[in-house]
Amino acid sequence: MTVTDSGSRTTALVTGAAGFIGSHLVEYLLAAGWRVRGLDDFSSGTVENLRGPLLSRDFAFTEGSVLDERLVRSAAAGATHVFHLAGRVGALYVEQHPERTIREVVQATRTMLAVVDEIRAPLFFASTSEIYGDSGVQPLAEEADIIIAPPTNPRSSYAFGKGTGELLVNDYARRTGAPVVIGRLFNTIGVRQSGRYGSVVPRFVGWAQRDRPIVVYGDGRQTRSFTFVGDAVRAIAAGLTTSSAYGHTINIGSDQETSIGDLARLVIRLTGSSSTVRHESYDRVHGRGTRDIARRVPDTTRLRQLVGCRCATPLATAIGTIIESPSRVVAGESD
Ligand SMILES: NC(=O)c1ccc[n+]([C@@H]2O[C@H](COP(=O)([O-])OP(=O)(O)OC[C@H]3O[C@@H](n4cnc5c(N)ncnc54)[C@H](O)[C@@H]3O)[C@@H](O)[C@H]2O)c1
Repeated sequence: MTVTDSGSRTTALVTGAAGFIGSHLVEYLLAAGWRVRGLDDFSSGTVENLRGPLLSRDFAFTEGSVLDERLVRSAAAGATHVFHLAGRVGALYVEQHPERTIREVVQATRTMLAVVDEIRAPLFFASTSEIYGDSGVQPLAEEADIIIAPPTNPRSSYAFGKGTGELLVNDYARRTGAPVVIGRLFNTIGVRQSGRYGSVVPRFVGWAQRDRPIVVYGDGRQTRSFTFVGDAVRAIAAGLTTSSAYGHTINIGSDQETSIGDLARLVIRLTGSSSTVRHESYDRVHGRGTRDIARRVPDTTRLRQLVGCRCATPLATAIGTIIESPSRVVAGESD
């Protein structure tokens, strides 16, 4: 059993609990002895993702939206910690719904802040490495200036939305002195991630498993830092239970850098697939004048020094868990 400093049992509210990262976080907290309440509207998450937790007496689930303040208040009653992960993700969704992307992040953040203020619980806010845009200065440090694509590009609504969410959380913490942690997650991967909205690893694995061509945008030399979900949820939980992390924005990511071309070749090798790699221009898929981000590597000093965590699971091991999972990988919209 996990207890707070005052001796009461720790109880988490996890929003976005039925999603990819949320469901792993729920499992991690339950295994660590927490009581957990999950909230999700199933807009992209699924009840299957919660199959294990729903068998636990320590897990309770509420179906509904984080935009509904009354519902959030009732789901949060008695929570000692709040992990706010709910939100719409994926380049394909964001490009189609820029106004909704920004409005929902802002509205949900305001609701979560009102509720944690009432119950006096520490808040984890899930932000994103997309915030950094196409910064030329790598590795990406939390206090560095950021370069977001112009508002003419609908994809930038995700970074503007999460950035506004971060501003609201920081303002709340400054005004009230309340404990908050903002985690900027870098390309998190693992079992249960869907490729439906454009996430690259489930798409590549799903295509390779079906021996379909693997589509790489541009020359494939753009890099990302893929982070195993098991490492990410350990860092999220440690962040919100470590007082030295309170008030900070912290990169949650691996510092292993991999090009998308190498990722495609690694997936083909690990799956034993006969897929070939096909290159397509980025702006043909995402709209004229848009370009892919060239590099994205986190500075992990804060994660190591303030939280005492590293995201160090090798990429091949993380991809291996997806390949070996009995659940079918959703590679795209047509699956
Ligand atoms: N996966 C990544 O690589 C990554 C990277 C950076 C940031 N993040 C952030 O981490 C969080 C979780 O992402 P994920 O990859 O698990 O995505 P996901 O889509 O699998 O999970 C998000 C969950 O939130 C739920 N949701 C969406 N809107 C909701 C609402 N209004 N009310 C209640 N539930 C709602 C969805 O149904 C889903 O279950 C998101 O906030 C995302 O922005 C993820």
